[in-house]
Amino acid sequence: MSAAGVSPGRAAVVAGWGGALPERVVTNHEIAARLDTTDEWIRTRTGIRERRQAAPGQSTVDLAAEAGRAALRGGRADALVLATSTPDQMCPASAPQVAARLGLGTVPAFDVNAVCSGFVYALATASGFISGGIAERVLVIGADVFTSLIDPGDRATVPIFGDGAGALLLRAGAPGEPGALGPFDLHSEGELAELLWVEAGGSRRRVPDDPGERFLVMQGTAVFRQACARMAESSRAVLEEVGWMVGDVDRFVGHQANIRILQATAKHLGLPADAVVANIDRVGNTSAASIPLALSDAAADGTLSAGHRVLLTAFGAGLTWGSTVLTWPELP
Ligand code: UT7
Repeated sequence: MSAAGVSPGRAAVVAGWGGALPERVVTNHEIAARLDTTDEWIRTRTGIRERRQAAPGQSTVDLAAEAGRAALRGGRADALVLATSTPDQMCPASAPQVAARLGLGTVPAFDVNAVCSGFVYALATASGFISGGIAERVLVIGADVFTSLIDPGDRATVPIFGDGAGALLLRAGAPGEPGALGPFDLHSEGELAELLWVEAGGSRRRVPDDPGERFLVMQGTAVFRQACARMAESSRAVLEEVGWMVGDVDRFVGHQANIRILQATAKHLGLPADAVVANIDRVGNTSAASIPLALSDAAADGTLSAGHRVLLTAFGAGLTWGSTVLTWPELP
């Protein structure tokens, strides 16, 4: 789907934000003490210094509810969309449990799985609910305990991924007002699914032939190239649709997969380095939580303030990718 326009009457407008991280910090030094890697390799190849890891028994629903509760400071919600690829159970979806935890009653609640692009897909879904008149206020959460998919002995993936959750509360408003989301640019390329996947545990390979098949396998270099090309392409499409020049973008909030991917994509687009919002050094790649956590951190520390024109772009397994834009609103 290319840069579909929003409905002329109603837009989804950001009304609140929140983030949640597990307490446990895993430093590069801790990883280097048990795997064949170094703090220097991880820092220079990925930009990550530390990441957070969920405690045993701490789940996606736990983190999602904490981030969602923070975003609800901006008011109530009458629907909930949870972006995750690590739900508490394979079936059912986790969103209803999050809604129950937040005391939202019997609101519609469901998961969206587009892995690291999940939050942008979930924002698009929620915007459709609002512009179509199905809901007035939608809580959109991106949450993953992605370390549950990581082979603890794999030096290619252990240093990269962390756990967390982030959320935005959306309300019905007018297109063009500060905080209004859209247009959206969303894509997928299923023929390349094997570049980044967990082979077993689903309906095709129900029981792993080999225990490694229940963990994420990543062809890092190929994924790196795809991520840079697709996020740049999608960003350009959404900028063209909304009518912004590259120079109009104040903050570039890309999926936090690797600082080199963020910098290369920004460079491709012609964005200055200081437009790049990055918290990857402290949280690593938190999959669907990555963009809302970066937004929450930037809103909390003042990197992001009212009036900034923001470009959001994500890329992930599937493959999936997508982008959207908004002007950051004045929020209490
Ligand atoms: O969320 C979306 C999904 N994920 C991503 O977007 C990740 C995309 N990919 C990447 O971020 C990068 O490809 C990685 C960080 C995964 C790897 O960086 P790279 O610069 O592409 O390294 P590489 O895989 O080409 O490996 C370079 C060297 C290799 O050694 P040789 O063959 O040059 O001797 C690897 O064996 O680095 C070695 N290597 C390591 N060395 C120390 C790979 N992992 C490690 C490690 N520590 N952890």
